[in-house]
Amino acid sequence: MALKVLLVDPDETWLGNAKKYLVEQMYEVNAVTNGREAQLALYNDKYFAVIMNFDTSNHSAAQVLKFIKTNYPSQRVIIMARKELLDQGEVSEEKMQKLGVAELAILPFELSLLKELLEGHQSLGDLMANVSKKEGTSEEQEVSQNDDQFTKIKIDEFYSSQAVLFDIYIKLGTDKYLKILHSGDAFSKERIDKYKNEKKVEFLYFHNSDRRKFVQYNNFLAKKLIDNGAVPVYNKVNQLKNVSEKFIEEAFTVGLKPQVVEQGKEVCETVFKLIEGEDNLYQALRSFQNFDPTAYSHAFLVTLYSTAIIKQFEWQSKTTIETTAMACMFHDIGKMLLPKELLTKRPNDMTPEELEEYKKHPELGVQLIEPNRAINNSIKQIVLQHHEAYDGSGFPFQKKGNKILTLSNIVCLADDFVHMMVDHKIQPTEALRKILMDKNGIKRYNTILIEKFINVFVDPEKLQKENALPSNSRLVQKKTG
Ligand SMILES: [Fe+2]
Ligand SMILES: [Fe+2]
Repeated sequence: MALKVLLVDPDETWLGNAKKYLVEQMYEVNAVTNGREAQLALYNDKYFAVIMNFDTSNHSAAQVLKFIKTNYPSQRVIIMARKELLDQGEVSEEKMQKLGVAELAILPFELSLLKELLEGHQSLGDLMANVSKKEGTSEEQEVSQNDDQFTKIKIDEFYSSQAVLFDIYIKLGTDKYLKILHSGDAFSKERIDKYKNEKKVEFLYFHNSDRRKFVQYNNFLAKKLIDNGAVPVYNKVNQLKNVSEKFIEEAFTVGLKPQVVEQGKEVCETVFKLIEGEDNLYQALRSFQNFDPTAYSHAFLVTLYSTAIIKQFEWQSKTTIETTAMACMFHDIGKMLLPKELLTKRPNDMTPEELEEYKKHPELGVQLIEPNRAINNSIKQIVLQHHEAYDGSGFPFQKKGNKILTLSNIVCLADDFVHMMVDHKIQPTEALRKILMDKNGIKRYNTILIEKFINVFVDPEKLQKENALPSNSRLVQKKTG
């Protein structure tokens, strides 16, 4: 079934061309020239997306946007605006966001951009259908392009069914790549293995602009894996890790655009699916071994352990887990506004001035996520309080005890734990032990959280059977009094 798009533009020639182009791309298009007709069309039919020129009159584009926001708040809208309107300040990304616009495209642009804008919101099936499958494989092709245009993925962890959705490269040297698979080529595991085994290739690369597709496709795979009882839990966690890390990388590089947050929600749903549905998660959480110190990997691990702790509470729910997952993915995003040299330093190695700067990152994070109306207040509060400690020794506000959101304190604990594990390159259970043994450090968390955290590492069946806490948590209780 074709996806329906509503095109609104006063210029009939442009409208005709755009319609023709989108129909060729398998969309069903309704093209109208004014705001009144647009509203009528929306009233009569459902649209996958609305693409409207800001110069629309009789009702103005602003009026139509208000109409959509009131009556169809989840409708995706893409606004096209002349550059002059932006220069004059009449149109801006913030203003459009407030009106519920998902995306702003500056006119004039090539029609192919329309497809790109729409594909960002496409379902996977449509995404796959749009890749024209080719017979055999295309020639390899050498390209010179800046390293910072590429995203890398471990060759062992790259998987695609049927056709590959985007071009895949291997790195030849600085700014030099070899395109080994073209978008639409049949995926062949043997071919990839050949590079791995014969040429000792460790990483594959794709364009940053394809990262969104990568996340979309791999998130879809992650959901399938999680549903499959025969797949070892470790593989499930690893797949989710790949999806989350690339998603976080996207958010940290392109910023929290509405479509990025939208995709974040999908990834968080998968996090929930794993946390809720996988009985053997404790095995993976006990033995997780990957000491990649990047910010993206860090944010994923904090997400994984925080949501696993929440699962232990009776009040846990889909919303709480998804909200916290989102907050965890963005918890350190404020660091992006700090001087670069601070990013790799740990607080213990900082000068007093640097430490002062570093302590601003929770508030900076909130500043970054604030404008996005899809991010709710709980997410903001978790980000703001993720370094507040139960004993009042945290920052930025030295909040204490119940003044701190429980969810924030959970993220604080998971954050400390992940640092312990990755900084010291130790097993999760060893990191847990160190946290439990630190008489002073442990006061940073509500005691009940510690109990629940210990349970994260225990077989839930065993927990139920004994209907009691594992022996080492009694030790904690004694310690914290
Ligand atoms: Fe932080
Ligand atoms: Fe952190």
